[in-house]
Amino acid sequence: MIVRVPGDKSVSQRALLLAALAEGESRLRGVLPSADPRSTAGALRAMGAVIPPLPDDGSEIRVVGRGLRGLEAPRSPLDLGNSGTGTRLLLGVLAGQPFESVVDGDASLRSRPMARVTDPLGAMGARFEWLGEVGRLPVRVRGGALKGLEYDLPVASAQVKSALLLAGVVGGVPVGLTEPGASRDHTERMLRGCGVSVLTHVRGPGRRVELRDPPARLRPLDLDVPGDLSSAAFVVLAGLLGVTPGPVTVEGVGLNPTRDGMLDLFRRMGGRLTVEATGDAGGEPVGRITIEGGTLRPIEVDEADVTAAVDEIPAVAVAAVRAPGVTRIRGAGELRVKETDRIRAVAVNLKALGVDVVETDDGLDVTGTDAPLQGRVDAFDDHRIAMVFGVLGAAPGNRIEVEGRESVEVSFPGFWSLLERLRHG
Ligand code: S3P
Repeated sequence: MIVRVPGDKSVSQRALLLAALAEGESRLRGVLPSADPRSTAGALRAMGAVIPPLPDDGSEIRVVGRGLRGLEAPRSPLDLGNSGTGTRLLLGVLAGQPFESVVDGDASLRSRPMARVTDPLGAMGARFEWLGEVGRLPVRVRGGALKGLEYDLPVASAQVKSALLLAGVVGGVPVGLTEPGASRDHTERMLRGCGVSVLTHVRGPGRRVELRDPPARLRPLDLDVPGDLSSAAFVVLAGLLGVTPGPVTVEGVGLNPTRDGMLDLFRRMGGRLTVEATGDAGGEPVGRITIEGGTLRPIEVDEADVTAAVDEIPAVAVAAVRAPGVTRIRGAGELRVKETDRIRAVAVNLKALGVDVVETDDGLDVTGTDAPLQGRVDAFDDHRIAMVFGVLGAAPGNRIEVEGRESVEVSFPGFWSLLERLRHG
């Protein structure tokens, strides 16, 4: 069976932001028509960017940008919904805009740490006033003239790195960053496509990223958004757990090497995966992944694995349920500050299904079993938690009810019908 997955969420969000900041009209195809990019688009429209509604079929949209410092002060708080990426990247943009704005989001987003971006943005000259709890949304931003930044990121985070690079671009100031691991580099690639010089050097397991001479304007984008590798992970998981009767191929999926760690992890678990590069879209490698099942075995997952597959660790933990022995996941503390505490969510749900799982500060030990799994689990308002347990529930012999199925709308509209197709061919 051949399937496609919707557009990449990370690339879609960045494309909307950079198109809004470019001078002239950008053309974007395959933008993910889901809640997160819609929140980001809504915030950009509230500041004067001309962005049409995101079409459900991913057809081309034309975005008229406002230039680097041409956004207008929004009249009401910017509501970023559930989108951590939209929020953090936008905070970088707002830091360099000469106006005041308020950024807010849903209950999940209000619980997520924002000081990781506002501290370094504050060092560049932006001012932030917490309107609720310190370090959490809502926040009032007073942007303006910025100064350059030299900064060591305490955690490998593409969102923090991107926010700081965007602040440098908008503010027209140099930024030098060192990160302890190699986080996804979509922003660097897309900025290069807009005519910005961003240099990257390997530094041990991490990276040194430099924005030296930010240009006065950004070239508009003409870009095809690849399918989302993180969404493809659920199809791969379905193949590994025997949801699909035969081999399944995901076509047109982004294969960015800074975030394809799940391919390695699933292969180490015994998954039979074939990956074929077919070309390039918007500066990102694209290809197809074929899954032909496999006999699963337990693995040890460390911090570097987590950085390269940060959103796929719940899928690895769920695959581990069918790997006889103990899969140990460590160095995954960042999962506790995602859309929900994903370590806790996976542990609570697996326990509810009778799986032997131990939660540690920064990871999980999952003991594989071949028992049929039945029961009720909670999505914890987190799209990826809903989807991994949806796939586990579709595996032969299991009957799992997922509470909060609608949260998949954040990143994967059509997920439940695709799962039915995978199941029944
Ligand atoms: C993202 C970066 C990751 C990832 C998130 C998307 C991005 O977060 O978990 O889903 O688009 O930059 P961190 O940068 O916080 O690790």
